[in-house]
Amino acid sequence: MANNRESIGNTLRVAFFLCLVCAVVVSTLAVGLRPAQHDNRMQFRQQNILQAAGLYEPGMDIRSAFENIERRFVEIETGEYVERPEEYDQRRAARDPEQSRRISPDPAGIRRQANVAEVFLARGADGDIDRIILPVHGYGLWSTMYGFLALEADANTVAGIGFFDHAETPGLGGEIDNPRWQENWVGKQLYDDAGNIAIEVIKGSVSPDMPDSEHKIDGLSGATITANGVSNMVRFWVGDRGFGPYLERMREQQYGDDSWAAVVAVEE
Ligand SMILES: Cc1cc2nc3c(=O)[nH]c(=O)nc-3n(C[C@H](O)[C@H](O)[C@H](O)COP(=O)(O)O)c2cc1C
Repeated sequence: MANNRESIGNTLRVAFFLCLVCAVVVSTLAVGLRPAQHDNRMQFRQQNILQAAGLYEPGMDIRSAFENIERRFVEIETGEYVERPEEYDQRRAARDPEQSRRISPDPAGIRRQANVAEVFLARGADGDIDRIILPVHGYGLWSTMYGFLALEADANTVAGIGFFDHAETPGLGGEIDNPRWQENWVGKQLYDDAGNIAIEVIKGSVSPDMPDSEHKIDGLSGATITANGVSNMVRFWVGDRGFGPYLERMREQQYGDDSWAAVVAVEE
């Protein structure tokens, strides 16, 4: 009898049923948890948007804070708002030749760019735009870094920057996540008085008496390649082939046609 139970046939039967039970449990969990995973991913992204905009406080209800943030879609080439369905996925669109274009030259190292990008607008209590939050991505040393760049309503002053996905080395390139380094960006100006892109991460530290210090960000010691990646990424996305035309429209809306003169006057 004992011999019969330990036969090869029995062993295989037990192994088969064990595998079957495990497979059913794992796939049920995978399918059942999918909505929760999607929710968590969404919430993490929303938290990153709030953080970049300087609107996040630990322990806050992210979902209700995000209700004050408006998601819009912008045609990169013209800077005009366009309609897209709620489920529009910019990363997926960038891989589809029908919805994207090749980039050349490619300073941000992203190869392709979706024709339509999402933007997020945070409004103050008076209903006016308070923050313009732009999704940005670009290549560092090891990985494509995905994040958000938040601007004040003048579409020139940086309100914050943050990253939610990258694989740079912790302690080196990974210092792009360090809040003390990110703090460097706050208040810096993207463009000079003539409207040219001037923002730049330098090698070393910025001192306030340095010429053009309002456009310069401290480098990351031992991680210049990642720091240059962030610099190139931001310069690309606020330029003519990125959100430049959209930001120009935002300034015109605020200050009228001669927007640069007005922005410069307000900031002086
Ligand atoms: C294991 C390893 C990981 C590294 N990771 C990074 C990184 O994530 N980002 C980066 O810019 N440099 C990284 N570096 C250093 C670069 O190779 C390069 O030396 C550095 O970017 C130059 O910056 P520095 O001129 O400030 O020293 C790494 C080096 C090693 C050996």
